[in-house]
Amino acid sequence: MADKPSFYITTPIYYVNAAPHLGTAYSTILADVQARFRRSMGYDVKFLTGLDEHGEKVAQSAAAHDMTPQAWCDSLVPAFKDLWGELEITNDDFIRTTQDRQTRAVQHLWEVLKDKGYIYKGSYDGWYCVPDETYFTETQVRHEDEENHTEGQHLCPDCHRPLERVKEESWFFKLSAFQEPLLKLYREHPEFVEPEIRRNEVVSFVEGGLNDLSISRTSFDWGIPLPFDEKHVTYVWFDALINYLTAVGYGQPGEEAAAEFAKRWPAQVHIVGKDIIRFHCVIWPAMLMAAGLPVTERVFAHGFLMVKNEETGQGEKMSKSRGNAIAPREVIDMLGVEGYRYYFMSDVTPGTDGAISFGRMEQVYNTDLANSWGNLVSRSLNMSAKYFDGKVPTVPASWAERENPLRSVADGIVDRYAAKMGEFAYHEATAEVMELVHAANHYIEDTEPWALAKDPAKHDELAAVICDLIESIRITAHLLMPFMPETSAEALRRISCEGEVSTDDLAGICAWGQLAGDVPVTKGDPLFPRLETSR
Ligand code: ME8
Ligand code: MG
Repeated sequence: MADKPSFYITTPIYYVNAAPHLGTAYSTILADVQARFRRSMGYDVKFLTGLDEHGEKVAQSAAAHDMTPQAWCDSLVPAFKDLWGELEITNDDFIRTTQDRQTRAVQHLWEVLKDKGYIYKGSYDGWYCVPDETYFTETQVRHEDEENHTEGQHLCPDCHRPLERVKEESWFFKLSAFQEPLLKLYREHPEFVEPEIRRNEVVSFVEGGLNDLSISRTSFDWGIPLPFDEKHVTYVWFDALINYLTAVGYGQPGEEAAAEFAKRWPAQVHIVGKDIIRFHCVIWPAMLMAAGLPVTERVFAHGFLMVKNEETGQGEKMSKSRGNAIAPREVIDMLGVEGYRYYFMSDVTPGTDGAISFGRMEQVYNTDLANSWGNLVSRSLNMSAKYFDGKVPTVPASWAERENPLRSVADGIVDRYAAKMGEFAYHEATAEVMELVHAANHYIEDTEPWALAKDPAKHDELAAVICDLIESIRITAHLLMPFMPETSAEALRRISCEGEVSTDDLAGICAWGQLAGDVPVTKGDPLFPRLETSR
């Protein structure tokens, strides 16, 4: 058998300055859905997530809690790992930038860049936003913020929080040398930055000219020391981006690491929020080019989950530093893990900002899951149990060839769905699947199986109708699997198709007409009990 193609997908590595929230979880679930989808399409997936543990922000959070930075980071790791476990995240690796493998990779890259002449020592004099870990020049600084009455202060042009003045000896990366190569990259590989609105932003930023970037700090020591200048630690973003290389063996000893790197690099996609596209779409590809490495194939930047600021009435980005974050627990308690995953993936358009509302969560859950998908499963399995003695009907001879309205929706559905899934249009992919669910619920109304059941002469017709329904359930369960793995697996178990749960041939398994008859069906409890608590 030929080797499966590699699909290497990553999330941002999150700062360890507070527990994860809905926004952090959003990126991680988005990546998980893609990882699961790709596995079902026959890819050999490596799915990486992890934590960004160095830098001034994390050091400050640690100090505020009277802990050493390392102890602080260690204390927060379980909050991330446990949440990812609970949210059914199937990452294959979990990187922490305080691991030895990261030190090795970062120090190796420093040496490579030094050898290639892309770094030099100088001194930095300018502004620094600690919450965003970003440098700003005098001309970029924002001077007042009407809402917050901060006249006279130096504020971050992005997040509007006060900046720190930084004047220190620093090593620089010759980012300015990469303006042309980067513009060429965006021209020749438009898929490198998606969606298009983000590409335009990145292109015009680079067209505006690039300054060399300060990539080491000397005023504190919570970072990876330079191999050739020990009083400097690596700028946290320079460190963090390298994690994507570290996790596939870069800078690590041994043949195995080299083989892994050859197989996995370049990554197929980095999932990021739109707040960090300059790092991923400007600095990162320039670093890779400087090191003589291929550039990641694609960066997909999603929008922000927004919450309403009760004082101003305005929507603002949910964030750990702003303290306006909603804990995932609240949503898990309300929708369950699978309802949670489905809501964010089907209702928030990945390229744009999404306003979060508990009312809307309830509506989507009840409409799509309780009333449509869950209801289809209950009704169909109940009828199968009732009319066919607890079994899927014996499939009538001509069943698989028979014309019916469900089959015509199901034909080609994997192609339509996969095209949407591949471009992260999950809201459209789930809409494709819901078409089959709605068609099946209508089919029940139209064919009236309860009437057919009264007429012994219509026994075969009834069997065919129930087979059509169960076949639609089987296919739907497969297509919803990346979003709701546990309920999909449960639906398959109830129709004795548990052997199909982890497929790597989605198109093959979803071809119409493979249902086995005369196997047990289990009615079971509702997959998605209706929510009655109107907020
Ligand atoms: O930036 N809506 O870490 P971070 C949607 N350590 N996504 C959100 C969000 C929101 N309101 N808030 C956060 C860092 N995110 C760096 C990354 S990568 C080499 C280093 C998600 O903890 C989104 O993916 O600030 C965003 O880009 C990321 O969390 C930022 O996480
Ligand atoms: Mg942030």
